[in-house]
Amino acid sequence: MVEVVGFGQACVDYIAPSPFFPPENGKVRLKELYIKCGGPIATALVTLSRLGIKTAYIGAVSDDQFGRMIIENFRKEGVDTSHTKVIRGYRSQFAFISVTDGKRTIFWIPGSFPEIRAEEIDLSPFPHAKVLHLDELMIDASIEAARQARKKGMIVTIDADSLKDGIERLFQLVDIIIIPETLALLLEPKKGIEDILKRLKLFGAMHVVITCGERGSIGYDGRKIVYQKAYEVKVVDTTGAGDVYHGAYIYGILKGWDMKRCMEFASLCSALNCKRFGAQGGIPKKDDPEIRSFIQS
Ligand SMILES: Nc1ncnc2c1ncn2[C@@H]1O[C@H](COP(=O)(O)OP(=O)(O)OP(=O)(O)O)[C@@H](O)[C@H]1O
Ligand SMILES: [Mg+2]
Repeated sequence: MVEVVGFGQACVDYIAPSPFFPPENGKVRLKELYIKCGGPIATALVTLSRLGIKTAYIGAVSDDQFGRMIIENFRKEGVDTSHTKVIRGYRSQFAFISVTDGKRTIFWIPGSFPEIRAEEIDLSPFPHAKVLHLDELMIDASIEAARQARKKGMIVTIDADSLKDGIERLFQLVDIIIIPETLALLLEPKKGIEDILKRLKLFGAMHVVITCGERGSIGYDGRKIVYQKAYEVKVVDTTGAGDVYHGAYIYGILKGWDMKRCMEFASLCSALNCKRFGAQGGIPKKDDPEIRSFIQS
């Protein structure tokens, strides 16, 4: 029985470790190229799946080589694709990612297929789902999905990273808002992080969290502000850190943990992911020793 449904981006990433980031009009010789699946919603679902949670992806891909790779990866990872939309004749979402000193720079292009319309959203095949995880790319469809989820009593979570028109309407339908600092500062350029958290909380969410890369994350549940340090690991590639953070946080929500414990677990899982190349390269599994000992603690 599917517990978490995801709607939003799934992607193929070409990832290249680069000795330096080139200036404009420059050239860099690369030594490696990794071709792997990523995308914020896909990666959060894979995280949950590796932690033993049944998930389904209801976003869209095309029937091109990238789309086939995305579907195959979902199947391999145990994410249900029976309601994934396969739109024929277009290009699926793609990213080129340069990694210098562990830091990722992303060039990406959305799928070329037409935007999924609100009327196409249907959560009825998932009567037992408890969480809907969204991004903001196809905003009208995301808003409709959030509306349906709320009616069913599901918890709605979001991973947004742009100020898309309609984002405020969407935030009003979300129970757990987790966004990177880059978006937080676009929302309120002149305010400090604690003030931005309090402003975000006014949308009505239960938890709001801002992630700040290697500096950790800050959360607010309406009672207290929680600071969570990033775990120290040997970082190879931070691609997908935020996506994994969301997946692991949702795991905590399903287990009934409070915000602090959810943040701690999300930080652990995202840091472990940074030890390998690719958005999903280092996502831990439920039987890994670090995960077992956290869950038992
Ligand atoms: N270098 C790092 N070392 C350890 N943990 C990290 C590192 N970078 C990120 N993390 C963890 O991952 C979380 C999310 O990272 P970040 O704020 O960079 O998300 P993001 O910008 O959404 O990234 P992406 O969209 O590429 O996944 C951080 O709050 C932190 O807990
Ligand atoms: Mg992100």
